[in-house]
Amino acid sequence: MIQAYYFSPTGTTQSIVKTIATTIDNDSKFHNITKPENRTSVPEFTPDDLIIFGVPVYAGRVPNVLKTYLGKIVGGGARGVAIVVYGNRHYDDALIELTDILTSCGITVVAAAAFIGQHSFSEILAKGRPDQADIAIAKAFAEDLKSTNPKTPVTPPGNRPYRSYYRPKDEHGEPVNFKDIRPVKSADCIQCGHCETLCPVEGICIKCCACVKQCPVGARIFTDLQFIAHKIELEVQFSERKEPEFWTAGHTDEK
Ligand SMILES: Cc1cc2nc3c(=O)[nH]c(=O)nc-3n(C[C@H](O)[C@H](O)[C@H](O)COP(=O)(O)O)c2cc1C
Repeated sequence: MIQAYYFSPTGTTQSIVKTIATTIDNDSKFHNITKPENRTSVPEFTPDDLIIFGVPVYAGRVPNVLKTYLGKIVGGGARGVAIVVYGNRHYDDALIELTDILTSCGITVVAAAAFIGQHSFSEILAKGRPDQADIAIAKAFAEDLKSTNPKTPVTPPGNRPYRSYYRPKDEHGEPVNFKDIRPVKSADCIQCGHCETLCPVEGICIKCCACVKQCPVGARIFTDLQFIAHKIELEVQFSERKEPEFWTAGHTDEK
């Protein structure tokens, strides 16, 4: 059975994972693990399963908030496809890290891919992605998996040991820490409470922007000047379009 898992606060990872899974099999089973209450069970698989696992890239790595959950997976000899979605800066070591995590849980990772999604922090960086061209590539990747049915492990690019988390720098080149920053409610807030239902954490804000992007009146905003400066820096520095890359056992294909 195809079982598709995704953590996706702003929906781009969900869109890629759903496209790939449904292209392989319309009856794929979906698990949205964005909210903490959906990360309580222990996922257990069998050799007959193909697991599609998608996460966004956070600071060049797999989101920390998922580490406990990912560590609980009982792979059971299932085959897996590791997917990361990043906001047009880079995926750094996130894809190899996700591949290693799934492998250490007993999943044979037979394919891996890095796709691009609109940056969580921005209204313009990789705007509208995944777009039609990305979806076409995701479908082609899935069709290829379906027809070749790979069984041997694949190793995507990245460093071991992994590089440390990507840290933005201030105007003096000093690393900045956004740990205590969170989006505030502006005067436009209509107290509908929708943002609270979306939050994927039960503690420190991870800046996933689920509340910012899905507020019906745009009232959830970041006001921290260093955070805004970092967002603008990303928009300026990484405006050039990146393209999806993927790796399947037996052959490497970069598009
Ligand atoms: C805390 C945080 C850190 C991020 N770090 C990176 C990064 O290192 N490189 C990158 O290209 N995009 C980065 N992004 C952007 C997301 O990876 C990208 O927008 C992704 O499409 C979001 O996935 P989602 O729509 O499933 O939430 C980051 C986003 C957040 C919220």
